[in-house]
Amino acid sequence: MEIKHYRINNNQLPQYKVVKQNYSPKEKVLLDEIRESLVDLAISSGENFQLNEDKLLNDIKIFIFNKFHSENQNESITNEYLDKLSRKLLRDITGYGKIDSLIQDDDLEEIMIIGINKPIFVYHRKHGMMKTDIEYSDEQELIELIDSMAREINRRIDQESPILDGRLNDGSRINATIAPVSADGPSLTIRKFKKDPLTIIDLINSKTISLELAAFFWLCFDGLGVKSANAIISGGTSSGKTTTLNALSAFIPPTERIITIEDTLELQIPHEHVIRMETRPPNVENKGELTMNDLVKNSLRQRPDRIIVGEVRAEEAITLFTALNTGHSGFGTLHSNSARETITRLTTKPMSVPKIMIQAIDFIIMQNRIYTSSGVSYRRISEVAEVVGSEEGVIQLNKIFQWNPETDNIENISVSSKTLTQIANLSGTSLYEINKEIENREAVLKHMVNHNIHSVNEVNAVLELYNANPEKVLNRIQLNR
Ligand SMILES: Nc1ncnc2c1ncn2[C@@H]1O[C@H](COP(=O)(O)OP(=O)(O)OP(=O)(O)O)[C@@H](O)[C@H]1O
Ligand SMILES: [Mg+2]
Repeated sequence: MEIKHYRINNNQLPQYKVVKQNYSPKEKVLLDEIRESLVDLAISSGENFQLNEDKLLNDIKIFIFNKFHSENQNESITNEYLDKLSRKLLRDITGYGKIDSLIQDDDLEEIMIIGINKPIFVYHRKHGMMKTDIEYSDEQELIELIDSMAREINRRIDQESPILDGRLNDGSRINATIAPVSADGPSLTIRKFKKDPLTIIDLINSKTISLELAAFFWLCFDGLGVKSANAIISGGTSSGKTTTLNALSAFIPPTERIITIEDTLELQIPHEHVIRMETRPPNVENKGELTMNDLVKNSLRQRPDRIIVGEVRAEEAITLFTALNTGHSGFGTLHSNSARETITRLTTKPMSVPKIMIQAIDFIIMQNRIYTSSGVSYRRISEVAEVVGSEEGVIQLNKIFQWNPETDNIENISVSSKTLTQIANLSGTSLYEINKEIENREAVLKHMVNHNIHSVNEVNAVLELYNANPEKVLNRIQLNR
């Protein structure tokens, strides 16, 4: 594994230093030999060639072992060295070449190749934008990398279709362009897939959401079993919409049947009963395309309780809103800069949702990414608005939570909430009791924060326990205080 460390250049972007792989001359020979025999194997297997990494690792070990013993009959090789070297060689052969160590680093959010003879940039979760000390100087080498990624996902990229957009096997999202669309040589952007998704507790810890707002959403999205709320999460590119949607989905009651529909699979909903669907681009003959709208329409025949649309962009919006207006629940993200703009975008082309249908959403959740001069950014839910009705053709919004940039707090500014009132009426509970319940749930979330309970499995276990027996959980928290 390569090691990296950081150095701050005067006033420039921090540098991400990639320490290059070191091989002894003997190891280098081994690497070349293994590569050669792999190429021979690939050629002799023709189209049926498939790489099985476990088998290959084993073969490499045997190869090194035999080689070592035929050359050094009196020495022995330690198991640890054999294992380490085999893994290093395997990554070198099957990995992503020069940028492989960047792909392996879970602290990176994004890897950006902007052309030939230009440094590769990365966005680090803690340090923000950084410049690496590696670059591609050979255009062919970069095109080969992009080609191999295209092959991995059974797609192609060439002059005729010079844009590649898709998802690698590890879940990372890639976008690549080649000539004639990219002027300075090929470009490649990789949005890395976070192996451990951020949970609601992670979002509370990073102040993206407040304890109070999280508890409020918990109650609204399970709706005490009588009405689970719908929401659109809106914001700019990379503001964390999908991540927030994913974290909030943990509040959906486990009894719901969930269908998720996305362009590239990103959501990692913790529930057992989920059907995941992904759109499909047309094939080389321009046939076989399955759009978001096709999938949303199809989902309606699958008796869903909740439909989650990864990103609402075009005519699928009408289909989704038809579903919301006929008793289904929904979640979705949308690209926009304010709650008002969200409504405008939904009701104008190409989404064109009739205004009367908009009232089916309960919340518009605005999320912002705030950039600082140091290059590090942070994310905040900046506003939560309820859709309360329509007056003379204008949709009425009621802002209930707002982020205050001066204090960096998300403030509850509502006098009343339509959703809470509905839940109270439908469940025959008083608003006083509902607010008490929100306080209880806030205590449960706070307990998780204080006891560093934040992984997906741990958080879900606590939520499940609370669903089954709230008193027991609350009593336990009291005792542990
Ligand atoms: N609240 C957060 N705190 C820290 N990192 C976050 C947060 N939200 C998202 N991220 C990270 O930021 C990156 C982008 O997040 P995400 O994909 O959720 O954004 P998005 O708004 O859905 O982007 P897009 O506009 O491409 O759909 C991911 O790497 C994610 O792990
Ligand atoms: Mg997204």
